[in-house]
Amino acid sequence: MKNENKTSHSAEIYDSQIRSTIPYYDFIHDETINLVKSMVDDPAIWFDTGCGTGTLVEKASKEFPNTRFILADPSQEMLDEARMKLSSNPRIEFLGNLTSQEIGKIPQKPYVITAIQSHHYLKVDDRKKAVKNCYNLLRQDGIYVTFENTRPSTKHGVELAKNYWRNFQLSHGKDPEAVEDHLNRFDVEYFPITVEEHRSLLENIGFRVVELLWFSYMQAGFYCIK
Ligand SMILES: C[S@@+](CC[C@H](N)C(=O)[O-])C[C@H]1O[C@@H](n2cnc3c(N)ncnc32)[C@H](O)[C@@H]1O
Repeated sequence: MKNENKTSHSAEIYDSQIRSTIPYYDFIHDETINLVKSMVDDPAIWFDTGCGTGTLVEKASKEFPNTRFILADPSQEMLDEARMKLSSNPRIEFLGNLTSQEIGKIPQKPYVITAIQSHHYLKVDDRKKAVKNCYNLLRQDGIYVTFENTRPSTKHGVELAKNYWRNFQLSHGKDPEAVEDHLNRFDVEYFPITVEEHRSLLENIGFRVVELLWFSYMQAGFYCIK
């Protein structure tokens, strides 16, 4: 069984620990939903890749009562947690344990694709493949929303941002050793690129609109239209 859960949390404790790692974690989901709401009334299909434990879809399915949600994640453990959380909802289905690069055809093309904090584990070529695949899966005029850990523009900026993020995690009760462990994974297990690199990647892949939605600590969010 493959397991690409590269987060520092095991799937069972992910939900209880993620808020002390990613600043504004809930807002990231809430604002993704608010943005989509402002752009489309009733998307028929919403695909969430790297769905983790399904928290975004749990919220979005309440706000979009007619939308069908399709989820995938390479980690079987994450999918098991998501299934436990969401299985009673007949509008939610799972594609299986797949990376964004691997996903083949989805029977009906999604109007919305979200990839929240799930592509920064990829190096250049695989990241390109993952985003290109999301682009190809999306229907024309569809919306792609992505958030990632993002690299500040200068070496000094990286150090400052790490310290800023370190203080966030410590002040939210995370064990100091776990915090260092997490920050040491920068450029080792997650490979952040700058806002400008995100923008050119998304534009080169073919999105006709590419906009910065969010920047805080080391997380950036973008929305794009095909
Ligand atoms: C930090 S978690 C984010 C989960 C969820 N999107 C959320 O908002 O809580 C990162 C997730 O990305 C998944 N992941 C890792 N590599 C991936 C890839 N190549 N394509 C899609 N998902 C990936 C991991 O298995 C993990 O569930």
